[in-house]
Formats: sequence, C-alpha cells, structure tokens
Amino acid sequence: MSLSVLLPAAGLGERLGRGPKAFLEVGGKTLLEHALSAFAWAGEVLVALPPGYPQPPRSGVRFVAGGPTRQQSVWNMLREATGDVVLVHDVARPFVVREAVERLLKAVSETGAATLAIPVPDTLVEEQSGSYGAVIPRERYRLVQTPQGFRRELLLEAHREAIRLGQDYSDDAQAVLALGYPVALVEGDRRMFKLTYPEDLDLAEGLARTWNC
Ligand code: C5P
Repeated sequence: MSLSVLLPAAGLGERLGRGPKAFLEVGGKTLLEHALSAFAWAGEVLVALPPGYPQPPRSGVRFVAGGPTRQQSVWNMLREATGDVVLVHDVARPFVVREAVERLLKAVSETGAATLAIPVPDTLVEEQSGSYGAVIPRERYRLVQTPQGFRRELLLEAHREAIRLGQDYSDDAQAVLALGYPVALVEGDRRMFKLTYPEDLDLAEGLARTWNC
C-alpha cells in the first residue's frame, strides 16, 4: 500500500494574527518543519503553500500553490498525488503522535476512510444571546483532528462531487461522508491540537520543551 501525505499549509492564520501559520516558529522550528519531520518516513509528501510564498529548500517534497480555501488547497495536492492511500494533515497541528497515526493507518487499510477524533472534555452548551442555553450531551460528540486518511480514489471522487455541488467543507471527512461513505473515528490525542488563537502559542511552546514523540 503506497502512501501520499498531503500537508495543507496555505492558510493565512487570520485568527492568530501572526501571518501564515506554516512559517510560525514553535520550539525553534516552523510549523511546516514540524510536519515535514513528522512525516519524513512517508514515500510521497506534498505541501500546499500560500501562493507567492517561497518554497523552503527540502528535497523529496513537492510544493504546490494553495487555494483560497482549505478544500481547494487539498484538491491542488490531491490531483498530483499518486499513493493508493492519502493522509491529509493540517500543518497547524505541529505535535504528531506516531501511535495515533499508526492507529489511523490501520483503520484506513480496513475501512478506506478514517479520521482521528477525541472526546469533548468540557460541558457543552448552546449559547443563547450571551447566556447559558441548552446543555448538549457531550458523550455523543467528538472533536475532529487530523490526519485523516482515505483511499485516494475515494477522496478524489469526494472532492470532484464537492466541486460539482459547489460545497466547501472544512475537512475531508465531510466530503467523503457526503458521498454516502462512512468515515471511521479513531482515537486521537489531545496533544495534536490545532494552533488557532494567540494563547495556543504558549501551550505549544510549553509542549515543545518536552516533546519527543
Ligand atoms: O484555518 P484553519 O486553521 O482551520 O486551517 C487548517 C489548515 O488548512 C491549516 O494547516 C492551514 O494552513 C490550511 N489551509 C490551507 N489553505 C487555505 C486555508 C487553510 O492550506 N486556503
């Protein structure tokens, strides 16, 4: 089973307000370098960068221009990928737990489509005009992470259908599910959080000090 790893890195990091996240440093390395090191073992690695940004010198990695949305960035990589299976991993998640990736790959080989996900740790409540609304049973919900893995042909079909319908999904599992294909949920890891808000940088710097996965 050959594997392609697709790394969407073309976001502009607007919520973080520090420029494109891929070039932000945590623990002395950019988020892009974290992702490239984490998947250095993979046969084929593609990266979508913000258009116009310089490609870091890195042999064995193919860089493509990202699109205006995450889905379009993934599509730009997917149409050039050659592996039987593709793993899509957001560069905004610099801490990649190898055991979680192994669990995911096993599920993909068995089912064709899987994503990492974690339980909701806090009480989950609907916000009603700034006040505490209905409590939602958190046991029924999961927070979705990446990587997500798919048979390449399946993800291609899902993206083509999303384009045809004019849909723009925030992750690839949604596109596959919309085709009517089930996506397995595999136990993720809280350390694989996505850097989104400025305070996440402090958490990441702290974790980087002891990181050895
Ligand atoms: O914005 P958000 O953090 O949800 O983005 C998730 C991932 O998708 C990030 O790694 C980001 O770089 C990537 N992305 C992209 N192209 C875009 C928007 C986001 O590759 N146009």
